[in-house]
Amino acid sequence: MPSLTIAIAKGRLQAETLDAFRRAGIALAEESLASRRLLIEDDSGQYNFIFVKPFDVPVYVEYGIADAGVCGRDVLIESAADVQEPLDLGFGCCSLVVAGKPESAERGYNPLTTARVATKYPRVTADYFQRKGVPVELIELSGSVELAPLLGLSEHIVDLVETGRTLRENGLVSIDTIAESSARLIVNRASYHLKRSEIARLIERLRPNRV
Ligand code: PRP
Repeated sequence: MPSLTIAIAKGRLQAETLDAFRRAGIALAEESLASRRLLIEDDSGQYNFIFVKPFDVPVYVEYGIADAGVCGRDVLIESAADVQEPLDLGFGCCSLVVAGKPESAERGYNPLTTARVATKYPRVTADYFQRKGVPVELIELSGSVELAPLLGLSEHIVDLVETGRTLRENGLVSIDTIAESSARLIVNRASYHLKRSEIARLIERLRPNRV
């Protein structure tokens, strides 16, 4: 019977997350990974892994369906989930930025005009523009956000930049950095106490640069 259930974010962070677990001695069978199964036990039978969309990781962990999970800090600050965040895993480094066409960057923000901003991060975006004193109209998208300024859906976007290639190849520039992000281990608050030794062991095994 597995002692811990761990939620893994599908997509951008998935391969590096599974590598980190492998280095920690927690491996999933290739056959299971190649399948479409969304719930997989590790080879030792100690851990159950569930594979979910990045923004669903904090949801499963906050509600205790998963004891722990791995997702980007970008997702955590957007979700504002009430979870423990004991470990920066040190990979998946990227920035959450405001971007737009070069002419938008030159114009800057105008506090007398409502900024139209397309994003997958409405909460972070609303907070940012509120701090700047600029009224904002949020247009919530679920991907390919860089298209919005190109097609006139919005003037700005708030999105992740990792290599900068997507911005560059779409003729956009970064205007301001809102936050830095990397992959984080998060833990359900009750599990943190009730499964203290299992969680402590997981944290130790996953700690980057562990000797
Ligand atoms: C992310 C992000 C950017 C891109 C940045 O998108 O939203 O579009 O990666 O990476 P880069 O700076 O290395 O080019 P993702 O691939 O996760 O897909 P999405 O468009 O569905 O959000």
